[in-house]
Amino acid sequence: MSKLIIDGGRKMEGEIDVQGSKNAVLPILAAAILSDGKNIIYNCPRLRDVEMTIEVLKNLGCRVKWEDNCLEVDSSDISVYTIPDELMRQMRSSIIFLGAIISKFGKAEVSMPGGCEIGNRPIDLHLKALRQLGVEITESHGFIYCKADKTEPANIHLDFPSVGATENTMLAACMIEGITIIENAAREPEIVDLQNFLNRMGAKIRGAGSDTISIEGVHKLYGVEYTIIPDRIVAATYLACAAASDGTVILKNTDSTHMGAMINTLKDMGCRLYTEKTKVILQPAKILKSVDTIKTMPYPGFPTDIQSPFMALATQCRGTSVFVENIFENRFQHIEELVRMGADIKTDGRVAVVIGKSKLTGAKVMAKELRGGAALVVAALAAEGTTEIENVKYIDRGYQSIEKTLASCGIDIKRKE
Ligand code: EPZ
Repeated sequence: MSKLIIDGGRKMEGEIDVQGSKNAVLPILAAAILSDGKNIIYNCPRLRDVEMTIEVLKNLGCRVKWEDNCLEVDSSDISVYTIPDELMRQMRSSIIFLGAIISKFGKAEVSMPGGCEIGNRPIDLHLKALRQLGVEITESHGFIYCKADKTEPANIHLDFPSVGATENTMLAACMIEGITIIENAAREPEIVDLQNFLNRMGAKIRGAGSDTISIEGVHKLYGVEYTIIPDRIVAATYLACAAASDGTVILKNTDSTHMGAMINTLKDMGCRLYTEKTKVILQPAKILKSVDTIKTMPYPGFPTDIQSPFMALATQCRGTSVFVENIFENRFQHIEELVRMGADIKTDGRVAVVIGKSKLTGAKVMAKELRGGAALVVAALAAEGTTEIENVKYIDRGYQSIEKTLASCGIDIKRKE
């Protein structure tokens, strides 16, 4: 199990080229199976989650080739319409392949994804939408069996703007003749990226980014070249690192229009930010001050994925910050680790109260999930002394070479296998 060793107290100073978005590339790789040819995906981040998605693609019969951050996916000979238990268990978000496999083969057999570290992650909204499209679904022996020989367009209203359910519905409906409407759709930028990729392939989808998406089914989709959008959560994580270390960072190849809620929160904390469309510069606050209440919401609200890194930063803000985690039921596992480092945080259910500014000291801490692990990195930069973060595999799921990125900005950080 590798770990990160971080010596805190240094100011972060440097430039970062923001990696491609993990949450955009995963559904786009699922969509890639819908063409009969090759797809070339640029700006693809080298992450554990992408490697696990490539295993699913290969299991379906795709040929996949890396070249730096470019991934070539050849779907011309795929013949398998199942995802086995071991692959689904290693990454539950592989459920995003369900809609694409159904569109490709008219049937699918996938293992129930189950939960993960941050919650039980139900898929009832996914299955309800697929059933409205005429997909016959039976669940038994821990598997989901789908038959789609009588599909039809539908007007689907999602009870919650679920990102995954929106994506699975787009993927299942894009080759169903007629017009399918998704109401109360998720509005995340990653949904827009999926729409743009599918339309480049020949699909006819409109409205992504709004709460209503219309999908006109087409008969064929083609292999294309495509560049993934920047990762807004990784970008904001590095802004939090710079702010926590009282440093300055220049983010390049980012998309500031996807980061409104996060940039506003950093400004409210007193950080000095300068933004252009593809560039964000953060300079240190004179004094970091607490933001009264931060509530996680669906996009364009404050993202749940940045809650823990910003909570780590909030420990360095003068005053009391109240965080309310409205999206996932178990997304406070980083708190006991932050308290080990000297943070003053109390929780009650989905509410966490952070009293700042607290003096953090380096300690041995454990990453327990992806974004909570990133929060420990933010805290380690502000802490006095050395912090050892175990279970770096969680952080590697979403952050490409985090130690190289931070070391290039003057941080004393090493990975120890
Ligand atoms: C996506 O997960 C992201 N993952 C998550 O990022 C992100 O936190 C989440 O969207 C919210 O923005 C990927 O894109 C791979 P949801 P997803 O369906 O699609 C409930 C990260 O750190 N729900 O919008 O699973 C669910 O329990 C990860 O990068 C149902 O009840 O999120 C949750 O409470 C973590 N039934 C809420 O909706 C369903 O059928 C939001 O889930 C589906 C979801």
